[in-house]
Amino acid sequence: MNDLDRLAARAAELRESLNYHAYLYYVLDQPAIADADYDALYRELQALEAEHPDLRAPDSPTERVGAAPLEKFEQVRHLEAMLSLANARDEAELLAWDQRNRRFLEGRGYDDAPFRYVVEPKIDGLAISLTYRDGLFAVGATRGNGEVGEDVTANLRTIGSLPLRLHGARPPAVVEVRGEVYLPLAAFARLNEARAAAGLSAFVNPRNAAAGSIRQLDPALAAERPLDLWCYAIGFSEGVDVPDHHSALEWLRAQGFRVNPHIVLVDGIDAAAATCRAWEQRRADLDYDIDGAVVKVDSYALQTALGSVAHDPRWAIAFKFAPTTVTTRLHSIEVNVGRTGVLTPFAVLEPVFVSGVTVERATLHNEDDIGRKDIRPGDDVILQRAGDVIPQVVGPVLDGWVDEDGRREERSARHAALPEWRMPEACPACGSHVVRETGEVAVRCPNRSCPAQLVESIKHFVSKGAMDIDGVGERLVEDLYAEDLIRDVADLYSLHRDDLVELEGFALDRKTGEAKRADRVLRSLDESRTRPFARVLFALGIRHVGAVTAQALVQGFPSMEALQAASAEELAGVPGVGPVVAEAVTQHLADEHNRETLEKLRVAGLRLAEEHPRRADGALAGTSFVLTGKLPSLTRGEAQALIEARGGRVSGSVSKATDYVVVGEDPGSKLAKAGRLGVATLDEGALRTLLAVAETPEDAVGARSPLDDDTRS
Ligand code: IVH
Repeated sequence: MNDLDRLAARAAELRESLNYHAYLYYVLDQPAIADADYDALYRELQALEAEHPDLRAPDSPTERVGAAPLEKFEQVRHLEAMLSLANARDEAELLAWDQRNRRFLEGRGYDDAPFRYVVEPKIDGLAISLTYRDGLFAVGATRGNGEVGEDVTANLRTIGSLPLRLHGARPPAVVEVRGEVYLPLAAFARLNEARAAAGLSAFVNPRNAAAGSIRQLDPALAAERPLDLWCYAIGFSEGVDVPDHHSALEWLRAQGFRVNPHIVLVDGIDAAAATCRAWEQRRADLDYDIDGAVVKVDSYALQTALGSVAHDPRWAIAFKFAPTTVTTRLHSIEVNVGRTGVLTPFAVLEPVFVSGVTVERATLHNEDDIGRKDIRPGDDVILQRAGDVIPQVVGPVLDGWVDEDGRREERSARHAALPEWRMPEACPACGSHVVRETGEVAVRCPNRSCPAQLVESIKHFVSKGAMDIDGVGERLVEDLYAEDLIRDVADLYSLHRDDLVELEGFALDRKTGEAKRADRVLRSLDESRTRPFARVLFALGIRHVGAVTAQALVQGFPSMEALQAASAEELAGVPGVGPVVAEAVTQHLADEHNRETLEKLRVAGLRLAEEHPRRADGALAGTSFVLTGKLPSLTRGEAQALIEARGGRVSGSVSKATDYVVVGEDPGSKLAKAGRLGVATLDEGALRTLLAVAETPEDAVGARSPLDDDTRS
């Protein structure tokens, strides 16, 4: 084998291994390796592909990210039409459907054929079709009008559980796999919170959110939304030979698709009905939204004999669940101030039991939303546990209330007599005059020292997805603030044991003199000093900077110094970072008060630079530098950031592995050592030339392990 063959074999091995581990993680939910190990393999493949572009392959996991934004979606004609489903609103309608089908088949040679049914959760997402050619994922499309949909291949590729290559050894020439893209409930809740904070309107339900996400023209934005996929049917195929629906599902499973584990095969319609009933009871246990169950005739021969009417097959039906809504009294509307200063109104309700929990508070998103729904304090309102998780006030109970089609009739006299609700003009936490930026729905408290904002931003900093400071919860943050012990996130690191033991619940143990809780908090804080730079950056709570965006920023600018030195234009050049994010970052970092906090964090020993920033895709990947002496125009931090942005590595001491020693004024012993070991030296001019040649590639997005996406539920 020559060198190139060896590299090609290694790339193939890496692809296979990475795809296998993604499958274990995303599809089977049984990861077998640590994310750091996954990352290392990923980076190795990325580096190989960067060095030898002909080693790139359609089933390489690196293909999941980095696709360029589209102007518009192309149209795709489905090879086989995507049908929709007729509804059964209750059990009687389900039984009637079975009866109708039996009558229809009478005299067609299927009298008294045993009816086996497959019962599936009806996922409240977005139907999609995935075409595989010769085993490779080729095209992914939305349903559209059933005949022609939109090409959303790049967005679908970002879904980790979607196989890029079928698992079978002899793949069919063509197969269309049908399924539902959806947003898990936790992700849906987080998305809406983030949208509210950014002054955007909330998605009504996970289906709207999934649809909005899959229709993002920029795949990097779609990648920020942790969509997932359940596959439930085969459309057109050439070379898949299965006799019935449950075998088709088995085939899909064997090919690496995510097939819902709750799906069952049952005998007869009574068993199917019982399954539907049972699921309706337990729908709240799922971490995704289902709006019913789908009952499908198992046998393909029977399916063919039954055929379809218009766009609905006779062989399948959707058993719809009752929506989970109740009515209750809205006592008042109060306002919360979030960490970015956004005022969010919430409903204070007469406690009411809905789909398993008692609800007494519900978010109302923003003033416009309240106006649109015409919700007034004192109303009886309809409360829905959307997705069985976040309670939502749908609207007031009026004679003429807004129905599903948006129709509204006359309002009741009582409602009309109630005053409309207005957002307060003063911040409820600090009294500052609130502002509403033009073009935004959100109303903000402009006071950066507003106690509510400070407390919320500290809560965000310590939270699980951010610095993950064990033992420091929301309550403790509030107490610490109330006791004047903290004013910003950096103050956490100057807390003393003596301060903590004064707090409620932190008292010393009289017998042993131990302060277990205080020590735990101090230990956690200490431990958090080692969180990677990207986590710190996310924890700062900069507007629009989520965990994934923070990671992207760090890929481009691996130190705080580099970030602070960058202009908004430069930041916007980082893949995955747009102008809005860039502007928010520069504003945040330019702020005097924030600068002080950052300085305090630096002194506290937090990581404000990536430890081993390696852009495996950069031209200097694998090249190691040592800096010595004072350079004429670059600080050490700047030089390091420039090298790291191109994939190079800067280390502190010269060894045989060092490629270049960069020498400035008054170099130390490192220069002498470089001479002894025969390591090449560069002055600043030569370094700049090297950097210019190795200019950062614009189209590369950094590696992402399936495990580090903490927006996943
Ligand atoms: S089967 C002919 N199975 O429901 C069969 N659909 O109202 C067509 N859906 O457009 C679809 N879960 O978006 C099927 N397990 C499931 C489903 C499911 C959700 C959606 C799908 C479809 C709609 C029909």
